[in-house]
Amino acid sequence: MNSSTAIVALILAMFVASSAIADEARWRDCRTCHAVIAPDGTELARGGRSAPNLYDLANRPLAADGAFRFYSDDLKAAAQTGARWTEENFVAYLADPQEFLRSTTNNPQAQSEMHVQLRSGARELFGYLSSLSN
Ligand code: HEC
Repeated sequence: MNSSTAIVALILAMFVASSAIADEARWRDCRTCHAVIAPDGTELARGGRSAPNLYDLANRPLAADGAFRFYSDDLKAAAQTGARWTEENFVAYLADPQEFLRSTTNNPQAQSEMHVQLRSGARELFGYLSSLSN
């Protein structure tokens, strides 16, 4: 390896490491309640069990974690529309979960059981969650 190849390799390694650190930082906002657990039980992203498992979220139907017993009626109603966790829906939900449920269900009274709003970084989080499930 000559020195310029070494420098390129070093910069690449730093880039990979810094994006992993950024993913970890973003996941911190979610892991109090959520974990990402593969079907074989491997914990791909550590976290709590008080919210649905976010494994294989990309394009998953809403409210589809069969092991989670506490989905709100309004998230279940939103799931009845056939909606899935596309990147657009994920970004809209994280920006304002209640507003997302209200517009998806057409019910101005809909209430979310998730009271977290993310100002930025939702797209990156979606990419991170998708990468874990591949
Ligand atoms: C304080 C606990 C808490 C935190 C923190 C939290 N959530 Fe949630 N989340 C919930 C609960 C509870 C639900 C179920 C909501 C409902 O039933 O209305 C939920 C639902 C979801 C769903 C829908 C899951 C499904 O199966 O349809 C997604 C997606 C989601 N959260 C993503 C996130 C992300 C990403 C973060 C971090 C930015 C996050 N949540 C942070 C509690 C939390």
